[in-house]
Amino acid sequence: MVNVLILGSGGREHTLAWKIAQSPNLSKLYIAPGNGGTHSLGENVPVQAEDFPAVRELVLRRNIRLVVVGPEAPLVAGIYDYFREDEQLKDVSLIGPSRAGAMLEGSKHFAKEFMERHKIPTALHFSVDAGHAEDGISFMKRLVPPYVLKADGLAAGKGVLILDSLEQAEKELQEMLGGKFGKASQRVVIEEFMKGIEVSLFVLTDGENYLLFPEAKDYKRIGEGDTGLNTGGMGAVSPVPFAGREFIQKAERRIIRPTILGLKKEKIVYRGFLYFGLMNINGDPFVVEYNVRLGDPETQVVVPRVKNDLLDLLLAAAKGKLDDKQVEIHPETACTVVMSSGGYPGDYEKGKDILNIEKTAGGLIFHAGTKMEGSRLVSSGGRVLAITALGKDRGEALTRCYKLAGIVDFEGKYFRNDIGYDLELS
Ligand code: AMP
Ligand code: GLY
Repeated sequence: MVNVLILGSGGREHTLAWKIAQSPNLSKLYIAPGNGGTHSLGENVPVQAEDFPAVRELVLRRNIRLVVVGPEAPLVAGIYDYFREDEQLKDVSLIGPSRAGAMLEGSKHFAKEFMERHKIPTALHFSVDAGHAEDGISFMKRLVPPYVLKADGLAAGKGVLILDSLEQAEKELQEMLGGKFGKASQRVVIEEFMKGIEVSLFVLTDGENYLLFPEAKDYKRIGEGDTGLNTGGMGAVSPVPFAGREFIQKAERRIIRPTILGLKKEKIVYRGFLYFGLMNINGDPFVVEYNVRLGDPETQVVVPRVKNDLLDLLLAAAKGKLDDKQVEIHPETACTVVMSSGGYPGDYEKGKDILNIEKTAGGLIFHAGTKMEGSRLVSSGGRVLAITALGKDRGEALTRCYKLAGIVDFEGKYFRNDIGYDLELS
């Protein structure tokens, strides 16, 4: 029996809390800082994930034996190494890579060089530093439009620009190198544009072995028909019909195994989730990006399809003992629809009362930007809730999601009505 701490406050963390709370091996669950949904599954503690001394104090005071890190920022900031270097924390299990492993997400340049070293298929690319924009422009002249420019560092999901003309791309490159995304874009990775369809794969690894979780497709744009601004994600589905057995096998052979082996060869410690953002180009997989964590809202469809005791898998991963574990997957389809505050991803209002949650039998309501104010549940972020449902096929799961999305209410609520409808029937 163990006490567990989940770090983070979004829908991903609520989903992890919901799943871990079902484990017979859980003693007590803490979520820091958590949200209005995690509140009913464990104890929310007002500690920020990046405040390592405060996390340390919490772990020691509550005798926590496993820490599950939800978001990337504390991983890139080195929370794994912080634990390992502390005499009192070094035996506490932590799900997430070392600082060096987190560079796969924390630096796009590092990720590209890593893929090059291990012959992992990805887009043609070229990295440019301030003062060398001319070299970048020469590289772009050899590509066909559109042009993809990426800030090297973490930029809260906003650091990727796709530009139609060379003129625009040159201008943006100069602005990025000049500090458009602060330090994150002091170096820019220029990429060839890959034309295909995106799918995300997730593994849990102990650095040696890995377990493949269900795949997912997310919907990043705010508007229906994939229009408008990019968001953290407005919905997701799993399974994904165009990521069949053959495609997944190719991805394992060409991408997943070489990545895990590459980390091992380079002595990069990695015990945690690894997210492969892939482009399917005529049936062949290419890496768009690595993330060193689970996705949000992908977790809301991936984790409900996992039958296993997740806590058991996480403890095994942290101890380097995944070799005799297997993931069992529910055959049903899972869909999630994100309900956001009106105006998101631009300015939006918070503090709206969330109504009718108690009338949502038949689905799973994962909270993202919510909090309790006394006995009132109110909105506190751009993405407020993710409404998840399972069904025998996508049609059934979506019908359930949308029924519930119509019932739950708050002033200014918005959701996309077309999640999953672009996919062929399965
Ligand atoms: P990233 O943060 O690297 O995942 O990029 C954000 C989004 O930009 C991806 O999910 C893709 O939709 C798109 N994107 C990034 N790189 C490429 C590329 N080389 N070709 C086409 N689309 C891309
Ligand atoms: N939904 C995209 C991500 O979590 O990175």
